[in-house]
Amino acid sequence: MASTLLFVFSLLLLPLPSFSKTCSSHTFSKNRLFATCHDLPHLSAALHWTYDAANSTLSIAFAASPSHSGGWVAWALNPTGSGMVGAQAVVGLRQSGGSLVAKTFNISAYGPVTPSPIAFETWGLEAEEDTTGIMTVFAKLKLPSNVTKMNQAWQVGPSSTDGLPSKHDFGVENLNAKGTLNVVSGQSSGGGTDSRLKEKNIHGILNAVSWGILLPIGAIIARYLKAFKSLDPAWFYLHVLCQLIGYALGVTGWGIGLNLGSKSKGVRYTTHRNLGISLFSLATLQITALFLRPKKDHKYRAYWNIYHQVVGLAIILLGIINVFRGLQILNPAQKWMDAYIAVLCILGGITLVMEVTTCIIARRRKTDGSMKQYNGSGAASDQHGVQQPLSA
Ligand SMILES: *[C@@H]1O[C@H](CO)[C@@H](O)[C@H](O)[C@H]1NC(C)=O
Ligand SMILES: *[C@@H]1O[C@H](CO)[C@@H](O)[C@H](O)[C@H]1NC(C)=O
Ligand SMILES: *[C@@H]1O[C@H](CO)[C@@H](O)[C@H](O)[C@H]1NC(C)=O
Repeated sequence: MASTLLFVFSLLLLPLPSFSKTCSSHTFSKNRLFATCHDLPHLSAALHWTYDAANSTLSIAFAASPSHSGGWVAWALNPTGSGMVGAQAVVGLRQSGGSLVAKTFNISAYGPVTPSPIAFETWGLEAEEDTTGIMTVFAKLKLPSNVTKMNQAWQVGPSSTDGLPSKHDFGVENLNAKGTLNVVSGQSSGGGTDSRLKEKNIHGILNAVSWGILLPIGAIIARYLKAFKSLDPAWFYLHVLCQLIGYALGVTGWGIGLNLGSKSKGVRYTTHRNLGISLFSLATLQITALFLRPKKDHKYRAYWNIYHQVVGLAIILLGIINVFRGLQILNPAQKWMDAYIAVLCILGGITLVMEVTTCIIARRRKTDGSMKQYNGSGAASDQHGVQQPLSA
């Protein structure tokens, strides 16, 4: 009985398979042991190492899961900067024949890389993969004798072709996979979360709310509420208010986005940026055009109205497209994408219902030949000179 209990207890003490990537439970072939280990804060990676101060030799085992099976894992010291450019990397990948190898890469620029010697004398390069798909690279590096703290970076990728690693993803986890490593004090940091991540989130929220939600609501107000004579001129002020707040928030978010773009070296979201610049230009044009609006009985007023609606529609479409682009880049929890799609569906539903309703109202008005029903108080009609029939 006692032995059964002991057996059950010892089972409970076994590490759970899902945590096998953590430092505490990882074991290596050939009974390799390391003095220190840190679970790195991104990409579920861990660095095990032993530093021999007598001959300044660093022995490491870097463990992580490639982003797809058959992919690669990489760990690097960067003596000249932080992040990818300047990284002296050790990469574990599959050769075309299928065997696992570890190779060094001196990464001097973004783009394709080829194996090359790195700034540190390196030996004992090996790679292995366990049954859960975690790949480990082993290496010994001779560090400069007076340097104990250095920038580190790590990465995982989806595949390798002809023994070369393919491009990795550019998600938040990938971009934040860097920090410092103090080989002596045993401190390793992952740089915490990207200080820019907060800025990215603010940019995302501001622009999703402004370009992506407020401007469409403002357009819906203008297009449909003016069909109800009792809401004249309230709809006009609501429309202006909504679009001005949307524009102010949008421009603020746009400024933050441009700033983020200028700080981001190497990674460029060209389409997102160009769409953002077009949006800002069109929205600014739309606001300035207000001052050029012809008087309501001017013969060009009808053209101005058409112009105003076409540009407005273009802004809304571009805005929604760019919000989706941004969501793809930021890659937040799925619920944010779902929430935005839900808001769009609601706005779309409202548009559909209102389109039908106002169409019916306009038709009745025509057949009645009288507006009494909808113009009860005899309020000045079309005070703001926006063209009368919605169905026109
Ligand atoms: C440094 O010392 C360790 C053991 O003390 C030894 O295993 C390693 O080979 C040495 N490295 C160099 C470069 O001499
Ligand atoms: C790594 O690449 C840089 C830039 O091309 C070069 O200056 C440096 O000498 C290279 N390092 C080694 C060890 O080859
Ligand atoms: C480390 O030593 C090298 C030569 O031994 C020297 O040039 C360099 O300035 C030293 N660096 C530091 C941070 O002390």
